[in-house]
Amino acid sequence: MTERMQDKSLYIKTVGIREWGNKSAKFNRYEATPYEALDKLFITYKIDKGDRLVDFGCGRGRVIFYIHNRFHIPVTGIEVNDVTFSEALENKKWYRYNNKDIRAPIKLESYLAQEYQINPSDNIFYFFNPFKIGIFKAVVNNILASVKEYERGVDIILYYPMPEYKKFLNEETPFRLIDKIRIPGAHDNMEKFLIYRI
Ligand SMILES: C[S@@+](CC[C@H](N)C(=O)[O-])C[C@H]1O[C@@H](n2cnc3c(N)ncnc32)[C@H](O)[C@@H]1O
Repeated sequence: MTERMQDKSLYIKTVGIREWGNKSAKFNRYEATPYEALDKLFITYKIDKGDRLVDFGCGRGRVIFYIHNRFHIPVTGIEVNDVTFSEALENKKWYRYNNKDIRAPIKLESYLAQEYQINPSDNIFYFFNPFKIGIFKAVVNNILASVKEYERGVDIILYYPMPEYKKFLNEETPFRLIDKIRIPGAHDNMEKFLIYRI
């Protein structure tokens, strides 16, 4: 199935790229995680009923709608680009209309990832290279503060992991790499998932 056909089966539109232009050097462009990669991820990575996922820089929402549809868990997407966010909202409208039987909440929030107040039940945090390392550090520190206050196991999933993200997690946080999932036929070595756990 093509990416457009997979979008259609979820009643969403997520194919394409949106650059920031020179407006921001700190925020990366919109581009969705390939469906093929998500299919591969969830062959080995198991989602439980009680899990709750946040996608930092959710773009048009592909990852959250895919996961909600497949696993019926609560999902949250944070997106700072106004135009992209309104596309995510439009996707939510059509997705919800056509998936009324799936009751788990879908939250979309339009602000900076580093301003998101981690919910004590959030336990899986997804990043597809959304922003520069300074913002990633701030977000991970928010996650760590939440874990300190409400002790629980949490996972960070990195798609297309940047070396500086890996270095920070390995050297400056208690997160440990527990799995590496490669994508068959990937064009470059960066097309993989890294799963970190605390
Ligand atoms: C590479 S896309 C990933 C989209 C989605 N997570 C996926 O995997 O399909 C990164 C997204 O992060 C958004 N973004 C960049 N900086 C952000 C920030 N500080 N807070 C929230 N979103 C941000 C961008 O606008 C873009 O839509």
